[in-house]
Amino acid sequence: MPYPQVRPRRLRTTPALRALVAETSVEPRQLVLPMFVAEGLDEPRPISSMPGVVQHTRASARAEVRRAAGLGLGGVMLFGVPERKDATGSGALDPDGILNVALRDARDEVGDDLVVMSDLCLDEFTDHGHCGLLDDRGRVDNDATLDVYAAMAIAQAEAGAHVLGPSGMMDGQVGVVRAALDAHGWTDVAVLAYAAKYASAFYGPFREAVASSLEGDRRTYQQDPANARESLREVALDVAEGADLVMVKPAMGFLDVIARVRDAVDVPVAAYNISGEYAMVEAAAANGWIDRDAAIVESLTSIRRAGADVVLTYWAAEFAERLA
Ligand code: PBG
Repeated sequence: MPYPQVRPRRLRTTPALRALVAETSVEPRQLVLPMFVAEGLDEPRPISSMPGVVQHTRASARAEVRRAAGLGLGGVMLFGVPERKDATGSGALDPDGILNVALRDARDEVGDDLVVMSDLCLDEFTDHGHCGLLDDRGRVDNDATLDVYAAMAIAQAEAGAHVLGPSGMMDGQVGVVRAALDAHGWTDVAVLAYAAKYASAFYGPFREAVASSLEGDRRTYQQDPANARESLREVALDVAEGADLVMVKPAMGFLDVIARVRDAVDVPVAAYNISGEYAMVEAAAANGWIDRDAAIVESLTSIRRAGADVVLTYWAAEFAERLA
């Protein structure tokens, strides 16, 4: 009987051998914790579809940002949940609006010890829940929205964000944000472009997290999950417009896109392990159907292996504390 001469199993014999030859690792410094900060809250409010994740009060957000820095995480990505929303999302521009206030609090807590990022999008602030302004026929008006994004960028830079994350998928958004920052002297503020962002069913729990009132979908601006080449086009545009980092989102269903984007550009690539991906693992684990810790480590490792330099994940703090 011809026994195998080559035995890949040999390198899997012991944990030490496996660790020696592991091609990919996940380190806390590569992880970014997304956080929701809600206006007018007295106590952190649990998000039922994301067990373990809360809407923070200003005080609890401060404590969490400090904890993230202490754990050696790469950064935090802040989302604001305003008490009042309106058609133009005016809370996003108000220096006293919840997101800008939370950014100021975060920088006050950690200075430059942690990268403080902010979501730059209108959907958390609009009463219709879309990422941009609507025209008189109810369509999302790309160019009118760009003017608001430019003003939002200045407000967030003034509030202290190190990195802005335009996530509305408006054409030209990166260029407009970069130009506005530069014109106001914020040349050091970086742009993390949500470059390849798909219209995903897996954002469901996020809608609860930011109390979104969206009806319908975002398919006129976010990408069709059927397309991968289109992501390369989006990413190339964003890099040309001055993106410092580019992001693929969601992560788990789009590992092929992460790999292709990694090959196509030289800027750092981030991937967002989104709310629905988190919820699926948590729900299955709560039912005893999968091993939670192993599923978390495997998820983050797979996203890194696909080519993501940076991973945004709701497990970031727990990973750094217990699983790294
Ligand atoms: C838009 C935004 C969304 C998410 C991050 N930024 C929602 C959307 O585009 O519909 C989703 C994040 C998640 O699901 O974890 N501001």
